[in-house]
Amino acid sequence: MPDTLTLTDNRTGLTYEVPIEDGAVRANALRQIKVDEADFGLMSYDPAFLNTASVRSAITFIDGDAGILRYRGYPIDQLAVESTYLETAFLLLFGELPTKDELARFEHEVTFHTFVHENVKTLMTGFRYDAHPMGMFVSVVAALGTLYPEAAKVDDPDVRLAQVIRLIAKVPTIAAWSYRHNKGLPYVYPDNDLGFAENFLSMMFKMAEPKYEPDPALVRALEVLFILHADHEQNCSANAMRAIGSSKVDPYSAMAGAAAALYGPLHGGANEAVLRMLAQIGDVKNVPEFVERVKSGEGRLMGFGHRVYKNYDPRAKILKVTAERVLSELQSKDVLFDIALELEAVALTDDYFIDHKLYPNVDFYSGLIYRAMGFPTNMFPVLFAIGRLPGWIAHWKEGHENPKTKIGRPRQIYTGPTERKYVAIDMR
Ligand code: ACO
Repeated sequence: MPDTLTLTDNRTGLTYEVPIEDGAVRANALRQIKVDEADFGLMSYDPAFLNTASVRSAITFIDGDAGILRYRGYPIDQLAVESTYLETAFLLLFGELPTKDELARFEHEVTFHTFVHENVKTLMTGFRYDAHPMGMFVSVVAALGTLYPEAAKVDDPDVRLAQVIRLIAKVPTIAAWSYRHNKGLPYVYPDNDLGFAENFLSMMFKMAEPKYEPDPALVRALEVLFILHADHEQNCSANAMRAIGSSKVDPYSAMAGAAAALYGPLHGGANEAVLRMLAQIGDVKNVPEFVERVKSGEGRLMGFGHRVYKNYDPRAKILKVTAERVLSELQSKDVLFDIALELEAVALTDDYFIDHKLYPNVDFYSGLIYRAMGFPTNMFPVLFAIGRLPGWIAHWKEGHENPKTKIGRPRQIYTGPTERKYVAIDMR
């Protein structure tokens, strides 16, 4: 059987044979289908890319029905247990797990680029005292590019690599300072004796102590959260990074666009919505009634369901255990966590959720962990951005390494008026 699709245009009676490659047909193959020579040719119409692959990518694999997520072939549950954030970042960026030497070099490079130009600090102090940290983050990432004009040479692999290191190293500094600014606290400079997550926690929470020594269990929990968020193939923000990058702008500008996409409540804001929902439920005993209200169409169970996963999101499984560990390490009890456990237990045995294939997603437990660690809710999208950073850069890099990449530019179906004659203002 040939790997082709036979299409008959009932307008003309003509038949076309279109090749099938990797389970897909090229939308451009439809252009040959015309009613006459003047016809533009058939287009495909797919708003929100529900069934359109926009790239060929070797970075991340997801099988939503089976609940599988792999970075460069490695299952997410193995990376969450065995790997570190920087090792996972190296894997996403360069395609292979690093050797000891490669990892040491990469960690050294990142560690020694964590400081930012003092102008960045001056810029950040100009924001209003209560500026949202994510709004500051988006703006300052774009502004960072003004300090590196050579970054515009995106066709030069060495220049690209220098920006990869700078972005991974400096973005956490900007992220932590956006929090310090929002709190009216002095900005804390990076501490190059500390590892990636430790240094981030130090820049976030250090006060008068000469050396910040975070709890190793919390450092590991943060690493796990960052690893789990590191990439998720062609999600809204990665798609933004690729689309903006395809214009060959510098990566700082492209990443500001990706971060802006993440800022939206439909993407990076769902974990905040989960916390609001849990607080609204208020008590474990109110869970059954809340579930009934959701089933009758009164709102949604936040942190449940996913466009791609129709099975348990593999990241949610890991985060449930991480949340238990963090709470026990901190010897803290969170009534919202008890409500979450009960909600999950009830929902997973309820026919509505089973029939609709609704399982907890990554956001169901992540907010609870961040909250236990002392991060305020408005920092959640910023934390997501730090995690997602390697993924964004890996997609940007992959786009630039592919000589076939063209500027992203969709077609449209025009629905406006046909040509009409201009009417002078006093005649309207
Ligand atoms: N609670 C109750 N019912 C739900 C939920 C939910 N969380 N999610 C979907 N459904 C139901 C819908 O009502 C619909 O039912 P119907 O077919 O009987 O009308 C059916 O399941 C399909 O829903 P869609 O909205 O078409 O599914 P879609 O794939 O477009 O949406 C989404 C996925 C947006 C994640 C959705 O499940 C949702 O709103 N979840 C809650 C918000 C959330 O947790 N978002 C975070 C996603 S993860 C991330 O982006 C990082």
